[in-house]
Amino acid sequence: MSPSVQKILVVGAAGQIGTELTVALRARYGADNVIASDLRRLGGPIAEVGPYLTLDITSRAELDKAIIAHDIDTIINMAAILSSDGEKNPQLAWNVNINGLYNTLEAAREHKLTRVLCPSSIAAFGPNTPKENTPQETILGPTTMYGITKVTGELLCDYYFRRFGVDARGLRYPGIISSEVLPSGGTTDYAVEIFYHAVEKGSYACFLGPESALPMMYMPDCLKCTMDLLAAPVENLKHHGDFNVAAMSFTPEELAAEIRRHLPDFKLSYEIDPRRQSIADSWPRSIDDRCAREEWGWKPSFDLPAMVADMLERLSARHNAGKLYEAGA
Ligand code: NAD
Ligand code: SER
Repeated sequence: MSPSVQKILVVGAAGQIGTELTVALRARYGADNVIASDLRRLGGPIAEVGPYLTLDITSRAELDKAIIAHDIDTIINMAAILSSDGEKNPQLAWNVNINGLYNTLEAAREHKLTRVLCPSSIAAFGPNTPKENTPQETILGPTTMYGITKVTGELLCDYYFRRFGVDARGLRYPGIISSEVLPSGGTTDYAVEIFYHAVEKGSYACFLGPESALPMMYMPDCLKCTMDLLAAPVENLKHHGDFNVAAMSFTPEELAAEIRRHLPDFKLSYEIDPRRQSIADSWPRSIDDRCAREEWGWKPSFDLPAMVADMLERLSARHNAGKLYEAGA
């Protein structure tokens, strides 16, 4: 039996996923047992409700200081430069995504931490990967720096588990759709922006083309799979750093059609961004997540209609209160 998670450091806690994950972890493990950290100054509910600090994951000294000061046994590393920003600055993407993870794994080895979790992405796949129902074990061959860092990260997590016994885990998130913090720097960001524009203006100009099908997941399922993998008994795991996870797949046209069931006048147009379009074209259209289901019981709760209904209800309520862009309002 692996020891249980007690005191968690969340790195990158100000981001789209880190913000909501910190709140969910505090509800499960206790506010004082989840230390939020980010390169950016943390504010709002995260800073009011529990411990937080400013931390640059590329600095091993800063990480060691935080681990010792807060008696950390688990690190969840959410700090990353995503796919689109990674193509603008590949050197920064390598530094944050790889040196940040290396620091995390080395600190886990030296301080004998209980567990590390660092997400991978569908960006680990590339143009030669089978596009439909992409298997767990398949051709990877990413063509973006972000994807290259994700594959390297998966391999590093597996290496540290085999070589040093560091219990490092990761999962290949699809595009994450959420209502609290707007995503930035990614290729799947359109699937969040579209809701804000639908509620605010009744129209959206999409930067991906109408036929671009991509795997996606709603935030409650993202939180569930992250916390379920974090708590899974290590003896049940055959994989470690690279679990496929899936929930739904759709094109911009299919998403717009579902939005129109609630907002019949919603208009979708296209202003295609060639950089992000070519990234999307290199990724799978749908994912086979059988291993996650078998090894730690993964099962999503939200399909496309349920996700759209919930997003529109939340954002419409905020818009009507004049607080559309206020997280947690
Ligand atoms: P995000 O960009 O919203 O947040 C990342 C956070 O990391 C930011 O708050 C940023 O300030 C912080 N950061 C950047 N450099 C740092 C550094 N040197 N030290 C400390 N913090 C630093 O990203 P996200 O969408 O929340 O993604 C979290 C993780 O999930 C990443 O590993 C990402 O690759 C992965 N992922 C996300 C998605 C998605 O759709 N959001 C999909 C697949 C995988
Ligand atoms: N949502 C992420 C991106 O678009 C996928 O990893 O970069």
